Amino acid sequence: MIIQDTLSTKAKAVIKTSTPLLREYGESIAKRTYDILFEKYPQVKPLFAKAPSNQPHLLARSIMAFCENVDNLDSIMKDLEIISQRHVAADVHPGHYTMFGQSLLQAVQEILGKQASEEIICAWKDAYFFFADILIERERELSTNCAAKERTDVATA
Ligand code: HEM
Repeated sequence: MIIQDTLSTKAKAVIKTSTPLLREYGESIAKRTYDILFEKYPQVKPLFAKAPSNQPHLLARSIMAFCENVDNLDSIMKDLEIISQRHVAADVHPGHYTMFGQSLLQAVQEILGKQASEEIICAWKDAYFFFADILIERERELSTNCAAKERTDVATA
């Protein structure tokens, strides 16, 4: 997976300054994200049928990893690959990312309240769609490879 580092220097700097906030509130933000997601978009709930019960913790951990490595994106490529593989297996589609992003940003605003300046919200929005684009692209590749393999298997059966 190749990461095109298009996140602005300003967004990265703001994200780094928000690391202590995320360390403190990351788990609550992740939990609230899923509550909002399932409340607003109940149609995505079945995708999580096989997800582990510590899913919010996994999300919080991955957000923290992005935050801490925003200057060293190569170090999180392995994590992104694992997330992409899980997403493809669960049938996550590109259209789901807007729903998820809205839920996450709403959760950030609710939980951080006044501590989340407009600058922080904007930087997190940029970061979310930056990572979403990387995941979407890799998930497209993985789904295409899966479909091609299935066609070969059918043809050779
Ligand atoms: C930038 C956005 C996202 C991030 C950072 C993210 C992060 C993660 C992480 C860390 C995991 C756990 C991977 C593991 O097992 O180690 C995961 C799994 C999962 N994610 Fe996401 N995710 C994102 C977007 C989405 C979207 C848009 C959906 C669909 C609404 C989604 C649905 C799922 C599902 C269903 C699983 C569980 C798969 C399983 O184990 O059965 N995610 N995600």
